[in-house]
Amino acid sequence: MTAADLAHRFPSDFVWGAATASYQIEGAATTDGRGRSIWDTFSTTPGAVLNGDTGEVATDHYHRWAEDVALMAQLGLRAYRFSVAWPRIQPGGKGTNPAGLDFYARLVDALLDAGIAPVATLYHWDLPQEIEDAGGWPARETAERFAEYAGIVAGSLGDRVATWTTFNEPWCVAYLGYAAGVHAPGRREPAAALAAAHHLNLGHGLATRVIRDTVPGATVALTLNVHHIRPATDAEPDLDAARRVDAVANRVFLGPALSGSYPDDLFRTTAGITDWGFVRDGDVTTAHAGGVDVLGVNYYTPTVVRHWDGTAARLTADGHDGSGASPWVGCEDVEFPPQPHPVTDMGWPVDPTGLRDLLLRLSNDYPRLPMLVTENGAAYPDDTRPAGPLRDDDRIAYLDTHIAAVADARDAGADVRGYFVWSLLDNFEWSFGYSKRFGIVRVDYATGERSWKDSARWYQQLLAAARP
Ligand code: FCB
Repeated sequence: MTAADLAHRFPSDFVWGAATASYQIEGAATTDGRGRSIWDTFSTTPGAVLNGDTGEVATDHYHRWAEDVALMAQLGLRAYRFSVAWPRIQPGGKGTNPAGLDFYARLVDALLDAGIAPVATLYHWDLPQEIEDAGGWPARETAERFAEYAGIVAGSLGDRVATWTTFNEPWCVAYLGYAAGVHAPGRREPAAALAAAHHLNLGHGLATRVIRDTVPGATVALTLNVHHIRPATDAEPDLDAARRVDAVANRVFLGPALSGSYPDDLFRTTAGITDWGFVRDGDVTTAHAGGVDVLGVNYYTPTVVRHWDGTAARLTADGHDGSGASPWVGCEDVEFPPQPHPVTDMGWPVDPTGLRDLLLRLSNDYPRLPMLVTENGAAYPDDTRPAGPLRDDDRIAYLDTHIAAVADARDAGADVRGYFVWSLLDNFEWSFGYSKRFGIVRVDYATGERSWKDSARWYQQLLAAARP
């Protein structure tokens, strides 16, 4: 199918975009009063990030934002999903830094001038270091401070930004940051990870209320990396493993935000770890009361699980196990068998049916829920030929088949309203540093130069054909 044929499977008001995140692209780590974030600390901790890479310079988007907006306009993006760096707005975790707000105001104005809708994410993992020092997400106060920060940003940009996302992937924040320790702040405390999950839910509710009070008519989203979990067989121990992983990884966030309750099997699965005494009366109502106008779904690969009986080495092919600490809190008897698919440079199996099935599952569990695919894309090694176009047929095939999967889900009734490719630019891929390239646009980290890969041209064609 050509890019144009694919575009014609979507309505003319479908939102086509690209996504980035502050720490992954901005650089300028000490410019204009920016404070330190947990990622500045983590990335300079020996052994935490591959090759000792840090986000200190990254793609230098902080200085190249105008060029990047021009690039987005040339691509034909309808929307751009970016995140706001909390330590630029509140260095040290408090007060207000006008220079930080001005940066995002300039960016938003340029986007609007180019006819690109800004979609602002308030938290894509760069917590002010001082707030971590005071306890981080396992501490209740962090949720309250997040709401205060949300109010400052909404107050500054709310007249120009209509769509707001509170959190990007609270699963990664809680479990990779506080249980597996492979993301900042690098803690390995399973009980703290569950407390973090709760305070992220609370923070979503508190911030949503503030955004709605500050920006009348705002569209508020929450972006989750809902895992599409498949049991390896339909034997009861595997089905049970799948249900438990779903409770701890997915329904722990979906429940409070969309249904107003935690699922009972979450408490059963984690009973040996915590009694959830940090949940106070009214918290779950608060987490739910603000509502979610549209659910952001980030998808890269499905997750196949099976019961581990302990007789052979436990398979941890989920790519996120570090040196033994697992993000799958309460699921110590679950393993992750390999999948029969080609993999990307991250080692993640390529299976677009997972995206279709995930969107249909969500639409079935939460009828009439509007959704945006807020991230989808693939890392592949660079085309290293000395001259000629930057070929990335593998990425084009990934995007093509996954966008078709979104169309399939829509055809089957899922209310998906937009798609954002991850990512606009090659960038700092967290603990993998600069070794993994997700961009449709290549970044030469030595010079900052941007060059279009073939996938960018392909996406441009699709977007041109999608114009009404
Ligand atoms: C997601 C993150 C994003 C990026 C992609 C590859 O988990 O939200 O920042 O790293 O994975």
